[in-house]
Amino acid sequence: MAPLRVRIYPDAALRKRAKEVRTVGAEEKQLLEFMGKTMYATKGIGLAAPQVGISKRLIVLDAGDGLLKIANPDIIEKSKSASPFEEGCLSIPGKLVEVRRPERITISFTNEDGKRIKKSFSGLAAKAMQHEIDHLDGKLIIDYLPWYKRAFPKKGTVKCPQ
Ligand code: CO
Repeated sequence: MAPLRVRIYPDAALRKRAKEVRTVGAEEKQLLEFMGKTMYATKGIGLAAPQVGISKRLIVLDAGDGLLKIANPDIIEKSKSASPFEEGCLSIPGKLVEVRRPERITISFTNEDGKRIKKSFSGLAAKAMQHEIDHLDGKLIIDYLPWYKRAFPKKGTVKCPQ
């Protein structure tokens, strides 16, 4: 497998809805392993496949409790929203955005053995998990900003209006 490259906003791969994984096969397992390595190398706590340009519903996450490898996650329960929390994103370097999300969530997902598992998350892990699930739907932290704060410089020179 070629080395994974983290896609940076406004890369179009970040805006696509990722496809369901039919089976967690050899290819998916290898991808999850490489995604884990990429996440640790870039000092992230989560990484979703669209961030490395691959349209699959796959996530790696380590919010301090070890590496989790997740396919096809669905949020099945959520608590009321916590106070806003500043989030960063490997795909939007240098930008922090306050996002308000449920404090606790329960998801169901498929693990590496193809089993459907239920797992609850709270605190930082819950925030990170929801952030990564957003990536699978093409949603980014800047989408939580009001429109008048959403302007973000594109790559290259920004021309000033005459
Ligand atoms: Co992100």
